[in-house]
Amino acid sequence: MERNLEELERAKIALREKARVVVLTGAGVSKESGVPTFRGTNGLWKEFRAQELATPEAFKRNPTLVWDFYEFRRALVSRAVPNPAHVALVALEVRVPHFYLITQNVDGLHARAGSKNILELHGNLFRTRCLGCWVLEESFAVPIAQKLPPLCHHCGGLLRPDVVWFGEPLPAGVMNQAFEEAGQCEAMLVIGTSGLVFPAAGLPGLAKDAGAFLIEINPESTPLSPMADVCLRGPAASVLPRLLQEP
Ligand code: OAD
Repeated sequence: MERNLEELERAKIALREKARVVVLTGAGVSKESGVPTFRGTNGLWKEFRAQELATPEAFKRNPTLVWDFYEFRRALVSRAVPNPAHVALVALEVRVPHFYLITQNVDGLHARAGSKNILELHGNLFRTRCLGCWVLEESFAVPIAQKLPPLCHHCGGLLRPDVVWFGEPLPAGVMNQAFEEAGQCEAMLVIGTSGLVFPAAGLPGLAKDAGAFLIEINPESTPLSPMADVCLRGPAASVLPRLLQEP
């Protein structure tokens, strides 16, 4: 059997037996939906400077510039639709008794596909938070109906996208739950992440140390590859449906 097929078969068998499965996704899972990744060719951080757009200091300096960047991303993502990788993960959730999908993505595409148990580590592009009264607003309309930067309807304070910026801690509740689930799972799928950004990049190691079977899906190798039991090389939108296809 071709090596790739052999690996796919091994991963299929391992997954079939597991009752507690955690999936960790990164930008690569949304690539086939037309949402750019951060690193690599055509990555967002190749075209834009993260330090000028995705830090609390940048927002303090120039909230309008930061909002311009987020409005651009919000518009791009609202035109995108979930791809077969997102859809396959919905089917996996239905079939696994205890399932969590931990994502670093802020695009909301997993929820739009129909996934339920989602832990968004880095926030969500369509939520805003007020810096004055801390009120969270879900489903913030695209494009924003006010002049940028938008202001809070309740207190007039400055609104910011409810995403995690460089130098900021992750939302504590979500992060703790992600660590708990990773430490107890029997199998973890690590999909479309470069494995460079912590604490998310620490989750596969935690799962592995606790005895989980680790499957990486990524066209490229990453710092996480050496610890994976199986590496499936290819785009998530074609690998995942094959992996999760019933016999
Ligand atoms: P990256 O852009 O760092 O990595 C994307 C990964 O997806 C790479 O390993 C690619 O090889 C892989 N990839 C590309 N196309 C793929 C495909 N079709 N199918 C599967 N994989 C594919 O994105 P993340 O790892 O998600 O944080 O980045 C982590 C964090 O860094 C992001 O959440 C963001 C960023 O700065 C914040 O903004 C806080």
